[in-house]
Amino acid sequence: MMMRGNIRQLGWAVMMSLTVVSVADAAPASAPPVSYGVEDDTFHPVRAQHGMVASVDALATQVGVDILRQGGNAVDAAVAVGFALAVTHPQAGNLGGGGFMLLRTASGRATSIDFREMAPTRASRDMFLDKQGNADSKLSLTSHLASGTPGSVAGFALAAQKYGTLPLSTLLAPAIKLARDGYIVNDALADDLKTYGKEVLLAHPNSKAIFFKPDGTPWQTGDRLVQKNLAHSLQLIAQQGPDAFYKGEIADEIAGEMAQHGGLIGKADLAAYRAVERKPVSGTYRGYEVFSMPPPSSGGIHIVQILNILENFDLAKMGFGSADAMQVIAEAEKYAYADRSEYLGDPDFVKVPWQALTSKAYAKSIAQQIDVAKARPSSEIKPGKLEPYESNQTTHFSVVDKQGTAVAVTYTLNTNFGSGIVAGNSGILLNNEMDDFSAKPGTPNVYGLVGGEANAVQPAKRPLSSMSPTIVAKGGKTWLVTGSPGGSRIITTVLQMVVNSVDFGMNVAEATSAPRFHHQWLPDQLRVEKGFSPDTLRLLENKGQHVKVLPAMGSTQSIMIGPDGTLYGASDPRTPGDLSAGY
Ligand code: GLY
Repeated sequence: MMMRGNIRQLGWAVMMSLTVVSVADAAPASAPPVSYGVEDDTFHPVRAQHGMVASVDALATQVGVDILRQGGNAVDAAVAVGFALAVTHPQAGNLGGGGFMLLRTASGRATSIDFREMAPTRASRDMFLDKQGNADSKLSLTSHLASGTPGSVAGFALAAQKYGTLPLSTLLAPAIKLARDGYIVNDALADDLKTYGKEVLLAHPNSKAIFFKPDGTPWQTGDRLVQKNLAHSLQLIAQQGPDAFYKGEIADEIAGEMAQHGGLIGKADLAAYRAVERKPVSGTYRGYEVFSMPPPSSGGIHIVQILNILENFDLAKMGFGSADAMQVIAEAEKYAYADRSEYLGDPDFVKVPWQALTSKAYAKSIAQQIDVAKARPSSEIKPGKLEPYESNQTTHFSVVDKQGTAVAVTYTLNTNFGSGIVAGNSGILLNNEMDDFSAKPGTPNVYGLVGGEANAVQPAKRPLSSMSPTIVAKGGKTWLVTGSPGGSRIITTVLQMVVNSVDFGMNVAEATSAPRFHHQWLPDQLRVEKGFSPDTLRLLENKGQHVKVLPAMGSTQSIMIGPDGTLYGASDPRTPGDLSAGY
């Protein structure tokens, strides 16, 4: 029998629930009180009283803390961190990509800024198919066709203008200095240049000239990396505002690069680009309020959906890392990712059934189909093609200021160093976000995600994302600010930050360090990090899960706010060089 977590089958599912092996009905949680890093915890967060920044790069974090100390608010600091990461973390930090900002003020107003890339107007539905009609991932990942019109500069400018307090030029100054004077390459960048850089950057002379030494070897740990062209581009934005990027000298460089190499982004695409303010997705989980990113990200909807499903189970009683808790979470994830493939896309082009997907009733109907003892094969939920998937690049940072405003930003070039193409003399790496569209229904993208009509390529459309900047509030006050890179695994990584904190009472550093797992429906595989006991994994196999131990997932950057207002920051130990710091 074909079964799927499908809102059209809501009525059917509710009816069937009487006969399906069932779950504890809305079992009360027996969660322990949340820890704020007491002595007998194993991992400890960084503490501060006035402001905190958590990012993947120590230099960028320091830029944010300096802006807060100068009197800037969390939005100012976030914008400055975003520009700094474009210099110090070129794997994902960017001017040539896009992303999402979620913010919540101390008074409780939540909003989000969508600065996701847009397909150029000359893009077309089958542009990534070869002559045989098969999806060609080289085209969507490493060619000049791979890039969508970038949104980061517009997004940061809009955020600063509407919610910041300092001039854009002040927020750009630290990035300009880092690019102009250079900075010392850390292990994380050196490692990524060595592994991914060679694959994507070396083929392009402009990129090679920046990220490789004249002898053709990549910059190494301890070398000073100077990016004069990028410094010039940043300086132009500081002097002329975002028009420098979308209409001026930088637009000429991008459009020129595209015209010369068969790319599609033209000056009209750049001039027409707009960042959009959108209402966040919100929900509740065991009395906490959850805010996250709406479409064109799928993150918020599916985090709320999965949490709604999990509310029907007493995870705290099952225990962290227990086979039962992992089983229930993995099953819930399968249903959510199946829905993702069907319903999610750019809301400016398709009607996303947002209310239905995040409704408690729908979640209950799915929960009633979940058997704690036995996994439902993904093929019974919806058949699909199984493909491997890797890659982890995107970056997240979180900021909280002394007024209590919280900002969560996830932005990206898509895979490491994006398309690997630097636009002309701009020093700006371009994204390969077009791969996030579904090139062909049922064919997985680089993250193994399949999609359908809702996420087909269309001119001026934004590709579906999984980026999930998320804020959780308790008693009306911001409590947890979090997010992560990780492609399709972003949603489940962020979900586990919430569940570890709410259900298992972990302090924010423990919640970050705890081993993670992930199921995305297709492939039918329960991906687990090292660190779960072999006994647990065997129990999961016995329940029917196809367990595979694979490399670490995610790199969360989180801030938790204690009841007395103390800020607790935690950067993910999975990434070298990241840092939470405050004052
Ligand atoms: N590029 C990965 C994502 O947006 O989900």
